[in-house]
Amino acid sequence: MAEAEIHTGPHSNVNTGYYFLREQEKMSEWDRLDRLHNGINNFLEGKLALVDIGEPLKFLDLGCGSGAWAVQAASMYPQACIIAADIKPLPDRPLPSNIHYQMLDLLNPIPLAQGIQEDTFDVIHMRLVLYHIPRNRIRNVLIFAASLLKPSGSLLIEDAGKWFDFQGPAMAFYHKVHIEMLIAKGLDPLIGEHLEEYLHDEADKFQNIQAKCVCLTLAADHERAGTAHDLRNFSDVMHNTLRGLVQSGISQDHAAAGITPQLQQTWLEESNDPNRWSSHNWWFVACQKVE
Ligand SMILES: C[S@@+](CC[C@H](N)C(=O)[O-])C[C@H]1O[C@@H](n2cnc3c(N)ncnc32)[C@H](O)[C@@H]1O
Repeated sequence: MAEAEIHTGPHSNVNTGYYFLREQEKMSEWDRLDRLHNGINNFLEGKLALVDIGEPLKFLDLGCGSGAWAVQAASMYPQACIIAADIKPLPDRPLPSNIHYQMLDLLNPIPLAQGIQEDTFDVIHMRLVLYHIPRNRIRNVLIFAASLLKPSGSLLIEDAGKWFDFQGPAMAFYHKVHIEMLIAKGLDPLIGEHLEEYLHDEADKFQNIQAKCVCLTLAADHERAGTAHDLRNFSDVMHNTLRGLVQSGISQDHAAAGITPQLQQTWLEESNDPNRWSSHNWWFVACQKVE
């Protein structure tokens, strides 16, 4: 692929309308995403996925955010080409030479960007991206991903599922407002729970669908997350991610939906209280493009 074909740098006039975190301060978002990646990476014992992905030569990270997953792929597979695509630019920091940024709007991925061609990728990864895609466009995004994969190529999706067992009134109320806001925007707040179904609906495109749900207990008292070290660590990382998210401010969408500074403050107090907790499902889903 010619380097010149890869677009880099900041992009203006990009419609990020469904991305409700869009107006928050970028560096804190990237920092938070880096930390979440490191936590998930620990949980996966340094691997890129729960499943065996073989020896890929071409990766695509759709909705790459800070680029942390792509950077890890680039370091683990120095011979491979990694394309990190997002509607927003990557942070301005040094990147391995085998990683290339491509601006891409998954809601309007045409014309196919140079470097992102059909039937060329061994692995496509999407983490916490479908959470930001409207329900009625998710199928199109999966079909788009299928078109880019080589036959037998792997599609790896990680996303949030349901939150439940709120032991704190502000946590429960904040969650209710958040979910209502997402639904009103046409998004699927339970996307993780529905991924298998979406993929089974495209049985002519995907095979070997595997899904694993990890239930995380988010609590200031780490012991509530269980005795397994990896699960406790992952739960802590997710808890800190959410605390960072709430602490970073109130997005326009959240403010319009009814999140107030007072609710934000009480949520943070509850999340610091060792007698309070909530549970959160995280999904790792993998499948292969049919041969
Ligand atoms: C929560 S972040 C996750 C980032 C990254 N996958 C990770 O796990 O660190 C969601 C990412 O999806 C991107 N995104 C949202 N809507 C998008 C769209 N329509 N097309 C491409 N990227 C999009 C956002 O810009 C953001 O970087």
